[in-house]
Parts: sequence; C-alpha cells; structure tokens
Amino acid sequence: MKKLVMIGCDAVGSYHLDNLMKLTHLVELAGFCDLILEKAENFSKLAGSGKAYTDFRQMYDEVEPDMVFICVPPFAHGEIEFETIERKIPFFVEKPIALDMNLAKEIAHKIEAAGLITAVGFQCRYSSLVPTTIDFLKENPVALVEASRITNLPQAPWWKDKNKSGGMLAESTIHQLDIIRYMFDEPESVVSQGAFGWVNDPDMTVEELTTTMIRFKGGALGVILSGCYATHGASYDSNITFSARDKRAVHKIIESLEIYEKEDSDDLAPDRFVTKGDGVLGKDIKSRKYDETDDAGLICDQTFIQAVINSDPSEILSPYSDALKTMAFALACNESIESGKRVNISY
Ligand SMILES: NC(=O)c1ccc[n+]([C@@H]2O[C@H](COP(=O)([O-])OP(=O)(O)OC[C@H]3O[C@@H](n4cnc5c(N)ncnc54)[C@H](O)[C@@H]3O)[C@@H](O)[C@H]2O)c1
Repeated sequence: MKKLVMIGCDAVGSYHLDNLMKLTHLVELAGFCDLILEKAENFSKLAGSGKAYTDFRQMYDEVEPDMVFICVPPFAHGEIEFETIERKIPFFVEKPIALDMNLAKEIAHKIEAAGLITAVGFQCRYSSLVPTTIDFLKENPVALVEASRITNLPQAPWWKDKNKSGGMLAESTIHQLDIIRYMFDEPESVVSQGAFGWVNDPDMTVEELTTTMIRFKGGALGVILSGCYATHGASYDSNITFSARDKRAVHKIIESLEIYEKEDSDDLAPDRFVTKGDGVLGKDIKSRKYDETDDAGLICDQTFIQAVINSDPSEILSPYSDALKTMAFALACNESIESGKRVNISY
C-alpha cells in the first residue's frame, strides 16, 4: 500500500486528516510532521498510525513516502516544496501556494521538469454544483459577475499579518477567485481598494474590507467584495451571481445553486416589471434550486491519492500549474490595492 505523510498538523490539517482516515483502504497514514511535536503526535494518535516528526527531511528519510499533504501557512512555502520535488514525491499543497509569484513560478517549473503529480486545495472545484453552473455559463452569455465573501476574523496567529497570510484576497477570497476562473473566464485586469477601521486591532495589517473590479477576457465585468469584519453570522455573505440578459445564476460555494429565469418563453414586457424604490424587480420569475450532494473535500483528497496510485493525473481539477494562475489573480488584486492603479494580469 502507498505511504502518505502530512506536513502541518493543525486547522486545515485536521480537515484533511478526517478525510484521509476514510481512505485508509487506499493509503497508509505513515508519518506526521509539525514544528510543534505535540501537534504531530496528536495527529498520529488520532490516525492510530504513523510516527511524529518535527523535521520533514528526517520524516522523508525514514518513511520514504509515496505522497505528501503540505498544510503549512502561506508564508512557509518554498523549502518544503523544493525538497519534495528533489525527492520526486507527488504532493498535495494547500492554497495559497505562495505569496510571491517568482517563488510559485520557480516551484511550478521544477514540478514540470520532474513530471510530478500535484494538486492544490481548491476543493470547491469538486462540488456537485459546478457542472450545472458550467452548463448555465456555456448556454448563457453572462454580462456581470458579482461575488462576495464576508466573514469573521480568522483565528490563525499569522492571519492578521499581511506579510504572512497575503491578506483576505490571497488567503480566503482566493476560493471565489479560483472558482470564477474555473467555471467562467480568465481575468484580464483588476482594480482593487482596501479599507481599515472596523476590527480595531493594532496588529492588523490585513485590509478588513476590499472591493475589486474585474474585466474578464471575454468582455464581461465583475465585482468582488471581501471582508473579515463581521462579528455575527447575520452579517456573513458568500455568493457568486452570474447575470445574463434574461437569466441569473446564484452559486453558493459547496452549498447551493439557484437559477432564476422567466416563467414562459415570452420576453418580459415592461408592465411585468415591478418598480421598487429606485430598483426594478421582474415578476413571473421562477427558480430552480440545486443543493450540494457530494463531499467535495473528500473527493478532492481522494482524487489526488487515486491519481498517484494510478500514475494518472487526468482527474485532478486543480494541479499546481493552474493554481499558479489563481495566485496571479489574487496577487494582482493586492498589487492594485498597494499602487492604487489598474493591474493587467499576465501568466
Ligand atoms: N482549502 C481550504 O478550504 C483551507 C481551509 C483552511 C486553511 N487553508 C490553508 O491551509 C494553510 C494552513 O492553514 P491552517 O489554518 O491549517 O494553519 P495553522 O496555523 O492552523 O496550521 C499550520 C501548521 O503548520 C505548521 N508548520 C509551519 N511550518 C512548518 C514546517 N516548516 N514544517 C512543519 N510544520 C510546519 C505549524 O506549526 C502549524 O501547526 C493556509 O495556507 C490556509 O490558507 C485552506
């Protein structure tokens, strides 16, 4: 049986460990590494297998793994990937893959040269709602994309420091950026702004609120709002709305998809619009709602493992080479916040 090891044994690591413990018919959980030994020992205890380490090189030497899950914070990428590629160990790595495009590109080049199988933690791509949304987007020319991700302040100790986390867009809203790219279109340019003033934390260097305007290559425009200022679920928001001229799809990541369309085949006559305040709402609108049916995270992890077992990466929806483009998108938003200018995105 193939041997799997993990580096980084805390929050997202536990999410993967839960999945991996359902996949022990495919892999042996053979080693756990964290800078803090107790965390690695805890994972080993939970898994009921695998030795705990604080040095990933020692773990690689002793276990000789067939694959690794790298679940370290955004600022900790580089050394681990280079050593892993050098040893030709296929790897799954959490997003964001790095906070510097030059580093991410160097890793991508080495992966390509080594012909290594990789996957990145964009599990939202494996949602049961994605194929139906893609069908909608193929059939309906979308003019406008509106997305939001408004949450509370994440608790990881490194999160508030933008140099360590990359900020809201690169660390959190990157899921929205990625799924929009995957399902809809590539961004051509972005204009972003950031703001502070609600969280009242002196250590906070991450913008608490950002707004981003996007021009897509196909001609559509988009707006993405993200914030970490919310203190209650009543203020949370997570939506992606794709608007065509006569239909609209609201995709809630790994939750639901609702498609709004007219009741019959006639175009909506002006008298069938209701004017409310200064906005206009259509009458006779029906909607089709789809709920998530799959465990996207489990499928994501299993797909990588199966790819390594079969030496066939064709089912992996987010290899490193593609995650590089999502990284460029997020870092272009950050660049625009800093420069106050529109940034063209090139891969
Ligand atoms: N895909 C998702 O939905 C999702 C969800 C949450 C977090 N994440 C991502 O996962 C990554 C980790 O986030 P987290 O919340 O688990 O962070 P965390 O701080 O809770 O855990 C990271 C662990 O990595 C360990 N670590 C750091 N450098 C190491 C090294 N060189 N060797 C061994 N261990 C090392 C730390 O000691 C820590 O225990 C982040 O990039 C985050 O954005 C992804």
